[in-house]
Order: sequence, then structure tokens, then C-alpha cells
Amino acid sequence: MTDSSPILIIGNSDGIGLATTRLLLDEGRRVLGISRSPSPVEHDAYEHLVGDVTAPGFRAALAERCERYGDLTTCIHCAAIGNELDPTTFSGERRVFEVNLVSVVTTLEVLVPRLIARGGGHVVVLSSLADVLNNAGAPSYSGSKAGLSTYLGGLALRLRPAGVRVTNVRFGFVDTKMADSPVRPLMITTERAARVLRRCLDRRPMRVSYPRTAALLVNLLRWWLSLRVWWGR
Ligand SMILES: NC(=O)c1ccc[n+]([C@@H]2O[C@H](COP(=O)([O-])OP(=O)(O)OC[C@H]3O[C@@H](n4cnc5c(N)ncnc54)[C@H](OP(=O)(O)O)[C@@H]3O)[C@@H](O)[C@H]2O)c1
Repeated sequence: MTDSSPILIIGNSDGIGLATTRLLLDEGRRVLGISRSPSPVEHDAYEHLVGDVTAPGFRAALAERCERYGDLTTCIHCAAIGNELDPTTFSGERRVFEVNLVSVVTTLEVLVPRLIARGGGHVVVLSSLADVLNNAGAPSYSGSKAGLSTYLGGLALRLRPAGVRVTNVRFGFVDTKMADSPVRPLMITTERAARVLRRCLDRRPMRVSYPRTAALLVNLLRWWLSLRVWWGR
């Protein structure tokens, strides 16, 4: 990668965002990161903004950084949370949608008009293979990712003629604190996930489902769950 323009990574104090930050810095890229916690990364080519993507000031802070980094044309949005549903309170459910879905819309609202004005750019957003599942344990996670994936699909088609590419990345299990499940089949490392994201920056696909075997299994599971609903079980 010879491009010297900076890359914005939202949600990179930990997990996939952190591994991607390290990979891109190792390759000589400049990176601007955002998360609620400070970053463990110390590097001359790295700046971190401590902030919450759902805070009222997020839009203005992002716009200010976009103005300062005039050559910023690439963004990777990794920020997300999960929440185990407590049906007696519904506590935390709204927040999942605010972080996982609404914050992407806020980010795009700030970025896309600027990217169009500059002649183009690339936004990569992390959805999930869980976007097709009826998830009884954490329905807000799957629901927010389902909305996100559908939204990104439409945006990718609409923005392409304006030079803005949108990539929806749907991982299976990745070894982070978010992958909080007793069974985690075909789990990949954060470094491998970062390499997948890195390839997306070159190829700019509309959608990536990874690993493909996990995507196939999820589709089979979805099909089986649909059959159970069909037969009223
Ligand atoms: N791990 C998996 O198995 C898996 C599978 C499929 C898809 N994904 C997706 O991959 C992406 C990254 O997940 P991960 O596994 O790397 O999760 P993670 O390790 O929990 O990291 C999430 C990152 O998002 C940041 N974040 C969370 N809420 C935020 C907020 N309100 N404002 C700003 N930053 C916030 C966190 O930092 P702070 O807490 O410091 O704010 C952290 O840096 C997510 O979109 C996730 O849905 C993950």
C-alpha cells in the first residue's frame, strides 16, 4: 500500500480495531482512532480521540477531525457492543442499536458528503454473520446488525456512482471479549481479521463474509430455524 492518506478507525482501543490499527501502522499508514478508552498504541503516526460514538458531541468532534485531516478518505467502523436480553427490564437494549447502528449513520452523515466533495473514498463497516439469525439470547445484537447490513447494501449501490465505496464485513467468531459464547466454532484471531480488513482496503468489495465456511454454516442454521418456525415448533 503506497497511499499516505490517514485512515480513521472507530472503535479501536481493543479487539479487531486494535489489531487493524497495529497492522496499518506497521505498514506505514497514518491512523486516527476513536474509542471511549484511551488507546494502548503509542506511535508517531497515530492520534487517538477519546470519545463515545453515541455522545451528543461525537458529530462535531468527528467533523473537526475531518477538517484537520483534509486528506482523510478511508474509515473503518468497528465500534459495537452486545447485550444479553433481560426481558424483565429490557435494560441496555436501546443502547445496542445506538452504538451498533445509529453511530454508523452519524459517522456516514459527517463523512460521506466530504468524501463526495473530494471525489471519493471508502467506508468499511463491521456487521456480523449473526445479521441473519433469530438470536434469542441477544436479539438486539443480531437485530442491529441485520439493520446495518441491509442499510450498507443499499448505500453501497447508491454511493458507488459518486465514487464512495461501502464495504460490509461480516465476520463469524473472532477471538475478542465480544465473542462471549461457550461454543465458538471456526473462530479466527484478531490478526487474521485485521488482514481481511486490510485486503478490503485494496479490493473495496461491497460485502465480505468470513470465514466462508462459517457463513455457510450460519445459512444452514438459519434455514433449519426457519423450517422449525414453518412447522410451528
Ligand atoms: N468478536 C467477534 O466474534 C465478532 C464477530 C462478528 C462481528 N464482530 C464485529 O466486529 C466489530 C469489532 O468487535 P470486537 O470483537 O473487536 O469487539 P471489542 O473487542 O469489544 O471492541 C469493540 C471496540 O469498540 C469500542 N466501542 C464500544 N462502544 C463504543 C462507544 N460507545 N464509543 C466508542 N467506541 C466504542 C470499544 O472501545 P471502548 O470500550 O474503549 O469504547 C472497542 O475498542 C464489532 O462491530 C463487532 O460487532 C465481532
